[in-house]
Amino acid sequence: MKTENRVTDILGIQYPIVQAAMSWITDAKFVAAVSNAGGMGVLGPHAGHNTSPSGPDEVGKRIGNEIRKLKALTEKPFAMNLYLPEDGHSDKYSEATFEAAIGEGVKYFVTVGSVNKAMMKEIKDHNCILIHREVTPSPKAAKMAEDHGADLIIATGYDEGGWIPQNKIGTFSIVPTIVDSVSIPVMAAGGINDIRGVRAAFALGAEAVYIGTRFIASEECPAADATKQDIVASKGSDLLMVSSMQRSTPHQFARELETLYRNGESSENNEKRISAIGGVSTSMLHGKLDEGIVSVNTAIDLITEVKSCKEIIHELMADFIES
Ligand SMILES: Cc1cc2nc3c(=O)[nH]c(=O)nc-3n(C[C@H](O)[C@H](O)[C@H](O)COP(=O)(O)O)c2cc1C
Repeated sequence: MKTENRVTDILGIQYPIVQAAMSWITDAKFVAAVSNAGGMGVLGPHAGHNTSPSGPDEVGKRIGNEIRKLKALTEKPFAMNLYLPEDGHSDKYSEATFEAAIGEGVKYFVTVGSVNKAMMKEIKDHNCILIHREVTPSPKAAKMAEDHGADLIIATGYDEGGWIPQNKIGTFSIVPTIVDSVSIPVMAAGGINDIRGVRAAFALGAEAVYIGTRFIASEECPAADATKQDIVASKGSDLLMVSSMQRSTPHQFARELETLYRNGESSENNEKRISAIGGVSTSMLHGKLDEGIVSVNTAIDLITEVKSCKEIIHELMADFIES
């Protein structure tokens, strides 16, 4: 297959693979490893943090520091994740993140949430590349994002790790649906852990893949070793729904949440319980598996080894590597 396509052209990268933003478990070293291996790394919102920030000012400072570290580790393109609140609303944490990123010269943003016209305009006014990911994707939202300046769209299937779409539409269904609704290139996300997933994504019309869970089990990801080994050992059939938003590998806290949810507790209350313990930081960053949740995709049976980011990229991108 040809190495270059519209996505590699727009992003200025070698292979059509982007490492997904993942809240507590991205930092400068990890993102640089992906970018230096020919993909694009994306700093998540808690980039390099070990503890909860005291407020938006501290978030801005921390993000600025991490981006400076990242720029010292790579000259290749990388992106910053940015949460977009509903149109007409603002978010102080998101604004602080954006200002810090712009201050450090960041040129690529992966936005997540809803189409927020003012924030999307701001990104484009700064001549940045805008990659939009609607949490619950739909043709209408994708077209709206395109109309408001998105350069690329990520179509995420229900199979994904992290906060899952609320329409329960799998990757096989959502990718071609979104491809048919926009003229800009689409990246596929959700359950892509090996080369078969990559080939399927391209067969469905995607022009790149956006990969989270597979990269957690990499040497450079700041997730705890216990978390990486948990992913290697767990099976998709073991996963528990802890709310309508997230699934987890089965450990004590996740079992408690799953029992509550199955017995009628609202997703909102369980999400509050997860936020109260610092989101996925307790389990995924600090490795206390019984005290938090380990949020992963449904295809984890395919992850059998922790490898370097470069090895993962070479495996997944084998069709794009000229021999
Ligand atoms: C542990 C974890 C944390 C995540 N946190 C974020 C986040 O902070 N922001 C975001 O836009 N997406 C987040 N995601 C979603 C990913 O960006 C991406 O959509 C997803 O991982 C792709 O599916 P995959 O895990 O099947 O590869 C997270 C995913 C995981 C697994």
